[in-house]
Order: sequence, then structure tokens, then C-alpha cells
Amino acid sequence: MMGAAEPVTARPEDAVRLHRLMTGYLASSALFSAMELGVFDALEKGPGTAEQLGEQIGLAGRSARTLLLALRGEGLVSKDGDRYRNEPVASAFLVRANPQYMGALAAHQGTHYAKLTQLTDSLRDNKPVRAGENYSGAFGDDKAWARRWAEITRASSLLMAENLAAQARLDGRKHLVDLGCASCAYSIALARANPGLQISAVDQPGVAEVAAEFVQAEGLSEQVAVRPANIFTDTFRDCDVALLSHVIQGFDRSRARELINHIYGWLPAGAQLLLHTHLPERAQTRFPFLFGLILQINNTQGGEAHDEDLTCRWLHEAGFGDIQVSTASPISALITASK
Ligand SMILES: C[S@@+](CC[C@H](N)C(=O)[O-])C[C@H]1O[C@@H](n2cnc3c(N)ncnc32)[C@H](O)[C@@H]1O
Repeated sequence: MMGAAEPVTARPEDAVRLHRLMTGYLASSALFSAMELGVFDALEKGPGTAEQLGEQIGLAGRSARTLLLALRGEGLVSKDGDRYRNEPVASAFLVRANPQYMGALAAHQGTHYAKLTQLTDSLRDNKPVRAGENYSGAFGDDKAWARRWAEITRASSLLMAENLAAQARLDGRKHLVDLGCASCAYSIALARANPGLQISAVDQPGVAEVAAEFVQAEGLSEQVAVRPANIFTDTFRDCDVALLSHVIQGFDRSRARELINHIYGWLPAGAQLLLHTHLPERAQTRFPFLFGLILQINNTQGGEAHDEDLTCRWLHEAGFGDIQVSTASPISALITASK
């Protein structure tokens, strides 16, 4: 039996932190609506009052004022007198015409957001939420989904691809295979950082087709060859380094482990595996702690946030040596392992 609990001293700052946590959904909603309504696109044309913006995008004055106030609180717009303007972060990432536009990612997160109202049931039943779209169902023949998927992963990789390319030690490596390449954002960043490196990028057929377009648009088709493949069964024995970025988390523990074992099986001796993933142990933001919830509500393949100890143990048990873990970006880590 446990003794009576010691009385806890309530600290006001803890209550403030919890208040922020309980109301955090408001900031996400404001951002999703603002992007859907084209607020940042409109403000990019020039500063204006809430009422002028409302007229431009079809909102009543009260609605425009309410939304702009919320965005100002998050530092996405600023107010000078009674005129609002985009802050640089909004101009760079939230304006449709900008190549770094994160709209696909916001729309994707918006679909999770709607489902999270049923998180409790999903946790209780250990089942995905069957409402709207299920992104793990996207990896089939649906071409429109494949394109959207490639766009979503390209937007999310903006925070990570350059960092990973700067971090990866690829001196002397000749041929890299990007397993489950999606948008090819990592292949593109690695190709730029390592002009002598040949890259094969593979994914499921529909996704590979869109990825090939993205590579061509960057003028890198000579260096990065994109093709369809099944990473669980195909082998790439002419490669001396393999990249597995944000893939194992999409699968349950036994499938994730099976994939690592399969890769070890075909990698030539002396080759290297770069495993890039969100690891809570290396996190500089909350996201690596939270993203498992997205897998929980969407994924039908038992995906979850496999942690550092477990992932390193799988690598070790597969036969890999010289396993090293480092922070790759503010939201991701890089595990390198050698055969
Ligand atoms: C979460 S995405 C990660 C994409 C990319 N590596 C990145 O980090 O942005 C996982 C990718 O693995 C691909 N994938 C899953 N199972 C696969 C399989 N059996 N063969 C080939 N690709 C697969 C999916 O189509 C998807 O594009």
C-alpha cells in the first residue's frame, strides 16, 4: 500500500503552461483557416486594414479582425497603426507563389486535426480513425494521391533535408540508394552537396513518377535516377550507402525490424546505412514526442515512433556496427551504421 501523498505545492507557472497546452489547438486552427482563406497571399500584395483584407477575401470585418489578431499573437502578421502586414516567416513559407510554400503540409496536418477529435477512441481501440482520407492508403495506384503525398513530404522535408545533407559524411562514397524517397527532397539535397555521388531513388510506382518530375525540375536527372521498387523485397547491391529517411516509423515493430534486416542482407560489406528519423531523445522541439499520434489516427500498418534504444538495438542485432546517433535537424536525428 502506498502512504498518503505529500501535498503538492501548486506553482502558478505550471498552470500557465497547462493553459497554453489546453488552448494550443486555437493557434493551429487559426493558421489552417488563414491559409485556406488566402490571408497571407492577400497581405503579400500590400499591407491593409482588417476591413480591407476582409473585403478582399470575403470575410466580415469582425471575422477578419478576429483572425488577424490570432495571427498577430503567433507572430505571423504584424500591425502598424491599423494596417496589417505579413511577417517575414509568413512571406517565406505561407505565400502560395513562394517555392518554399508549406501549404501541402498545412492541408495535410489539417486533415489529422479533424480526426484528432476521435483520438481517445483510437487509443482505446488501437485502431485508426476511419474518417476522411487515410494517408497510409495512399501508397497504391492513386496518382492524384501520389502527387499530393510527394508535395506533402517535400514541404515537411524543408526543415530537414539541407541539415541532413550537411551532416552526412559521404566522402569516398560512390552510389547512394534513397529507400522510400517520396519527393526526393533528400536525394536532391544530397546530390547538390555531393556532386560526385550517384543516387538511385526508389519508391512505389505512383510516387516515383512524381519524384522523377521533381528531380527533373531541379536539373538533376543525370545524377539522381528515380524508379519504382519494393524496398522490402528488392536489393541494391551496387550501392555503398543507403538512406532510410522517415520510413521505419510507418511500420509496426516487427515490419520495421524486418526492413532493417533485409537492408543489412543486401548491403555490401563496408557499406553504410543512414537512418533518418524523429527521435524524442534528440528532440529540440516537441514534434518528435507528438508525431506518433499522427500515425496512431491514420496508419493501418501499426506505425509508431520507434525510439533510439530500440532502433539501435535492431541495427545491432541485424549485424550493423559503429552505430552513431546525432541530431540532424531541430526535429530529427541521424543514425549511421556500418556493415
Ligand atoms: C514517410 S515517407 C518518407 C519519404 C522520404 N524518405 C522523406 O523522408 O521525406 C515513406 C515513404 O516510403 C514509401 N514506401 C513505403 N513502403 C514502401 C515499399 N514497400 N517500397 C517502396 N517504397 C515504400 C512510401 O511510399 C513513402 O513515400
